[in-house]
Amino acid sequence: MNTEIKNLLRPHILTIKPYQSARQEFVNDGRSMILLDANENPFDSGVNRYPDPFQWDLKRAIARHKNVEPDQLFLSNGSDELIAQLIQLFCNPSKDAVLIAPPTFGMYAVAASIHDVAVKKVPLTRDFQLDVDGLLAATDAQTKLLFIPTPNNPTGQHFSKEKLRKLAENFIGILVVDEAYIEFSDEPSMIPWINEFPRLVVCQTFSKAQGMAGIRLGMAFAQPDLIACLNRIKFPYNINVLTQQSALAVLEDQQRISEEITTLLHEKERLKKALIDCSFVQKCYPSDANFFLIRVDDAQKRYQEFLKAGIVVRNTSKYLYCENTLRITVGTPKENQALLTLLKK
Ligand SMILES: Cc1ncc(COP(=O)(O)O)c(C=O)c1O
Repeated sequence: MNTEIKNLLRPHILTIKPYQSARQEFVNDGRSMILLDANENPFDSGVNRYPDPFQWDLKRAIARHKNVEPDQLFLSNGSDELIAQLIQLFCNPSKDAVLIAPPTFGMYAVAASIHDVAVKKVPLTRDFQLDVDGLLAATDAQTKLLFIPTPNNPTGQHFSKEKLRKLAENFIGILVVDEAYIEFSDEPSMIPWINEFPRLVVCQTFSKAQGMAGIRLGMAFAQPDLIACLNRIKFPYNINVLTQQSALAVLEDQQRISEEITTLLHEKERLKKALIDCSFVQKCYPSDANFFLIRVDDAQKRYQEFLKAGIVVRNTSKYLYCENTLRITVGTPKENQALLTLLKK
């Protein structure tokens, strides 16, 4: 076990005896076996058996797709579960803290609060860039995790690799880079960086570009030592059979996904032009994701007008530095046309 990781872990993690599921207790040599070990209903319905607790078929397929080894990968019930699991691993309740850079994705603070873990905040600069020196200055031995989404939500912008490298090199806890929107960005993923930085976790998800928010599948990429710690605390069957099957199917269908991404990026440009021309839009922030943050004259009024016309956008005004902003996701060409028609009115 890497000593840096060991020193950051909550002390009891390494003494936990993980649950042993029935199928882990024998080596399947490829024969077809009669399974009388797990108290399942034996009649085949496609889902009558427990899923593989370590999802090896799926992990091998993802590992090929992402160019990593299967033991550098952990799968979770959406990234949301992963965020909570990282907090469970590293943060002692009512003692440790996580660090975030608002405006940022809301679940980091929610998950920390659920676990009675303090949330330290070092805001982005007014132009929504990272204050790297501020983040490092706010860090102490209790600051176990730093969550940085890039591209960021709700702003849509990516953070520069130069700044992220400075964080990876100098942050003394675990740097969690959340790449939920990476497939929409021109920026390369930071997954290859895990080989260089033992305290780096890169998260991705099947919920955005992969079009599978409903199956709940998140991914963590890190060195095998850290992945092994996540495996110690996960619930035995956290990724269900249907999710594993659907994810394998979409990995075989990446041509369709890349066509969808191309369409969405094209639509994004179309929407951007219309939003910039719109009289009530004061600013349309640059976006590397599949959504825009726009500043408007009166967010609540415009939100209600969209709603009345049957279009639901997100009023992001409550986020730091986001007064009078709306976040608009790029839809299908038909949905975007409805939005453009409304904007023209
Ligand atoms: C930055 C970021 N990370 C993670 C998530 C959640 O991902 P998942 O659906 O995998 O839980 C979101 C969802 O909006 C997000 O914006």
